[in-house]
Amino acid sequence: MNPNKALWEKGDFTRIAATMRASGEALVAGLGITAGLKMLDLGCGDGTTALPAARLGADVLGVDVASNLVDAGNRRAQEEGLTNCRFQEGDASNLSELADRSFDLVISIFGAMFAPRPFDVAREMVRVTRPGGRIVMGNWIPGDPTLVAQILKISSAYSPPPPEGFVSPMTWGIETSVVERFGAAGIPAGKIAFSRDTYIFRSPASPAAFVADFRDYYGPTMNAFAAADQNGKSANLQQELEALFERENTSRIEGGTSIPATFLRVTVSV
Ligand SMILES: C[S@@+](CC[C@H](N)C(=O)[O-])C[C@H]1O[C@@H](n2cnc3c(N)ncnc32)[C@H](O)[C@@H]1O
Repeated sequence: MNPNKALWEKGDFTRIAATMRASGEALVAGLGITAGLKMLDLGCGDGTTALPAARLGADVLGVDVASNLVDAGNRRAQEEGLTNCRFQEGDASNLSELADRSFDLVISIFGAMFAPRPFDVAREMVRVTRPGGRIVMGNWIPGDPTLVAQILKISSAYSPPPPEGFVSPMTWGIETSVVERFGAAGIPAGKIAFSRDTYIFRSPASPAAFVADFRDYYGPTMNAFAAADQNGKSANLQQELEALFERENTSRIEGGTSIPATFLRVTVSV
């Protein structure tokens, strides 16, 4: 059993991804995509960024460890008639099925950060990018006061300690760690640029209903609730998350939710 794969196949991330579509599309619109550009979307989920890139004419391969999300991505591409976008199963820590230097652009938006063995992930991303190409990552930031970092922080307080040797995905949100990992893959620090960017989670449902979607469909939150339940603490976790979502909600639509979340954007010139 691969626990990383099991975590993401649990539940149904498409329910959360549905609230991230507009931000995914806006991010892709700023990447300078031209027809025929060969793009890899790593940890692509059901295609929040892969589909908009294909609509702009890129030749897109989405790779994800979760088979249910690969199926959902292929279904979405097919429904849109996007023959230049396909999805397949794979692990960002070992992309041996992909040839060296085969992509102009590798993107990974809150995707590869969740793979084990971050040094292998950086090496693989660099290996499959052609010289002169780019890698663009979006990574949540540890300790950030906005939504996702806070969900993960609150959830971890209810969860058992991680196994020995576990490297937190959030370390991809620390600039020095990113420089160290790409440095080990042969990329000098001067070729790595950082900026802060924002994703907005938008749902027609209330903040409390949105928390319920995380509880019922988002693997990491499902696990936190399962652990909290064992200690009779699931109501406390629910309350803390509802308070967070209410506090962060900026929606002016009655009963709706719109929550901005800050992330670290990493651009690597290969
Ligand atoms: C938070 S979701 C983001 C999905 C997508 N990039 C998006 O913006 O909607 C994290 C994704 O990373 C994928 N993932 C986690 N570990 C992975 C690994 N080792 N290799 C490839 N994908 C992985 C998950 O299956 C999931 O689809």
